[in-house]
Amino acid sequence: MVTIAVTAERDGEPRVAVSPETVKKLSALGAAVRVQAGAGASSRFADETLKAQGATIAASAAEAASGADILLTVRRPDAATVKALKPGAIVAAMLSPYDDRAGLDALATTGATLMAMEFMPRISRAQSMDVLSSQANLAGYKAVVDAAAHFGQAVPMMMTAAGTVPAAKAFIMGVGVAGLQAIATARRLGAIVSATDVRPATKEQVASLGAKFIAVEDEEFKQAQTAAGYAKPMSAEYQKKQAELVANHIKAQDIVITTALIPGRPAPKLISTAMIESMKPGAVIVDLAAERGGNTELTQPGKTFEHKGVTIMGPLNLAGDVPVNASSLYAKNLLAFLETLIDKKEKALKINWDDEIVKGTLVAKDGKVVHPSLTQGGAR
Ligand code: NAI
Repeated sequence: MVTIAVTAERDGEPRVAVSPETVKKLSALGAAVRVQAGAGASSRFADETLKAQGATIAASAAEAASGADILLTVRRPDAATVKALKPGAIVAAMLSPYDDRAGLDALATTGATLMAMEFMPRISRAQSMDVLSSQANLAGYKAVVDAAAHFGQAVPMMMTAAGTVPAAKAFIMGVGVAGLQAIATARRLGAIVSATDVRPATKEQVASLGAKFIAVEDEEFKQAQTAAGYAKPMSAEYQKKQAELVANHIKAQDIVITTALIPGRPAPKLISTAMIESMKPGAVIVDLAAERGGNTELTQPGKTFEHKGVTIMGPLNLAGDVPVNASSLYAKNLLAFLETLIDKKEKALKINWDDEIVKGTLVAKDGKVVHPSLTQGGAR
């Protein structure tokens, strides 16, 4: 029988790697699920509820992990917990593989098989396992809701006997998963929405959501998408043209949501201090790229502050602010992944090391970091 351990997160992370639904489904796969007491509390998954679906509740992280075949967490677990697992056990989590390399190496030396969920290949078979999508979608939603809450004005147009309240103007920069949901949410709130990206494929997506697409559409723009579906870093020349366009547009905006990222690199700086200072007092910027340095020159990761009347928010874990949904979806991503690793008939682990999904996510094995992007100085 496969034993799966789920421990409580640290450092105020509200999400958890399991849900009542996934406990039930993992149990049906023939696995024994051990959850640390209280691990689901912030997501409103009470120990009793998890127990009713088949989980065993363990008093501590060490007890949950003791001799387990698999450890599921949201963020990188501590080495002590990993050491308590069966030798060579699987750890599936958002490992932030590009951060704190020494810590990652230390985790690798435990001999555990480390699998980074962020590295899940973006192929159709793995869509249900795509944690970046499931979490970014919620973050895009929450960014707009938070911006609206900080905006001292109404978002939709209101025609009243006392006069007309104008609709707010929202500008979404970076139209990946988070940006698309931000556009949809801002539209639902009644904002006049525009959006920009460097990938040509986004043009139609923006239009189909009823927003206006704004971008420098030159030859470089036509080539800006990698085979993996991500953006390339743009040339200095393109950045200059883009900055001119943004400078003109941003002056009239009330809410700006920035989400622009390039995998393994610092976030591109899209909004200068001068641009912020040209904005209307009361405008709100929510920078979803804060964790990777931010898309504005002034973003302070984890902080909300005002600069010359413009509020700048740099949230680090917006998906964690909707923990019930974030945990449910993350747990489902992990379940879909584990279904490919567990042989249902034999109720045992059966890993196909040649599977694209396994190769893509495998960060460390047998004591060593093995992922090409981490061993060959790849994407950084
Ligand atoms: P991301 O989080 O890496 O980046 C967010 C957005 O920022 C992207 O749209 C990117 O083009 C944009 N960006 C980067 N540099 C920029 C710049 N200088 N100016 C303006 N925008 C800039 O991207 P995310 O959300 O992870 O999605 C990337 C792509 O992957 C999308 O095409 C998405 O549809 C696709 N995707 C495919 C999946 C699958 O097939 N399984 C699953 C999820 C997403």
